[in-house]
Amino acid sequence: MKDKILTELNRVFYPGKTTSIVKENIIQDIRIEGNKAFIRIKLLDDNPNVAEMLKKSIPLAAKQVEGIEEVELEIDKTPKEESKTLENIRHIIATTSGKGGVGKTTVSVNIAVALAKLNLKVGLLDADIYGPNVPKMLGIEHTPVMVDPKNKDKIMPIKKYGIKVLSIGNLVPENAAVIWRGPLIGQAIKQFLNDVSWGELDFLVVDLPPGTGDAQLTLAQEAHVSGGIIVITPQDVALSDARKANDFFRRLKIPVVGVIENMSYFVCPKCGARTDIFSHGGGKKFAAEESLPFLGEIPINVELREGSDRGKPITIANPDSPVSKAFVDAARNIIETIRSLED
Ligand SMILES: Nc1ncnc2c1ncn2[C@@H]1O[C@H](COP(=O)(O)OP(=O)(O)OP(=O)(O)O)[C@@H](O)[C@H]1O
Ligand SMILES: [Mg+2]
Repeated sequence: MKDKILTELNRVFYPGKTTSIVKENIIQDIRIEGNKAFIRIKLLDDNPNVAEMLKKSIPLAAKQVEGIEEVELEIDKTPKEESKTLENIRHIIATTSGKGGVGKTTVSVNIAVALAKLNLKVGLLDADIYGPNVPKMLGIEHTPVMVDPKNKDKIMPIKKYGIKVLSIGNLVPENAAVIWRGPLIGQAIKQFLNDVSWGELDFLVVDLPPGTGDAQLTLAQEAHVSGGIIVITPQDVALSDARKANDFFRRLKIPVVGVIENMSYFVCPKCGARTDIFSHGGGKKFAAEESLPFLGEIPINVELREGSDRGKPITIANPDSPVSKAFVDAARNIIETIRSLED
């Protein structure tokens, strides 16, 4: 009976093509129970009209077989829909801060490098459309973006320092005033997630714009974000911004993997004396109050700033420095927290 059904289905053309659906290999399974046939197919594209046409033509054809009176058609997800689940990216982590200038991009870049140093496959997406600073910090401002030779619909991320990177800054001319409205930001982020050949990644680190706007919302809707990192500076005034960021993650049901205190203290390079310029410990206190993991403290450090300015992050330029070690420790803490969330 199955063969008879296949013969009938062989007469049905795939909409828009001159070959039959059998030759196009879309039939996944045929099962018969009494006078009912269960047919499972997959589509070659996500054109809704194709699905509609096949929903009519396949049952009609199958019912030509004597003994078949009912047909149940099941349609598998199209490849495009599947890619939306970003199944080749194990974890997306997003850094944010309540306000600008606290070192979010510095942290995103160095954490990405630190994760790669721990032998993980890492991508870095600069989603800060208003101020895409990632290319500058990695020295890739003038690197052109290429189309994936294996899939012309996708673009290749740029490889640098062991990570795969893509930034809006690599796609628009330098200093172009990018004044984007909400829906455009959402669209851009969607494209970055789906139309970039990220390949297999353990972590995709996303540097979000400051605040709680459209970029954050789109990311939460489009992808399963494993965790958020809140970057704060130790002043008391920064705390209220950090609380806003935390509330926002909570509303989006994104777990916070940790709080990192940047510009935490200063060690005089000449005499070694430590000064807590903005007071100190606000990050740890905030994390404790909100029951969030504390990832570590990054001091104010001239080498860190210089490295960012000349496109060579400190984790690459001087991996043995205490600052680089602090980033690697923070990366380890992130991995641990993510693992515990998975359990
Ligand atoms: N711990 C640090 N020590 C010294 N300089 C730092 C430190 N963290 C960040 N900076 C410097 O402070 C400036 C702002 O940092 P960064 O661009 O990372 O902040 P941001 O939060 O991403 O800012 P924006 O809101 O503009 O995106 C940069 O010049 C950076 O090199
Ligand atoms: Mg930034």
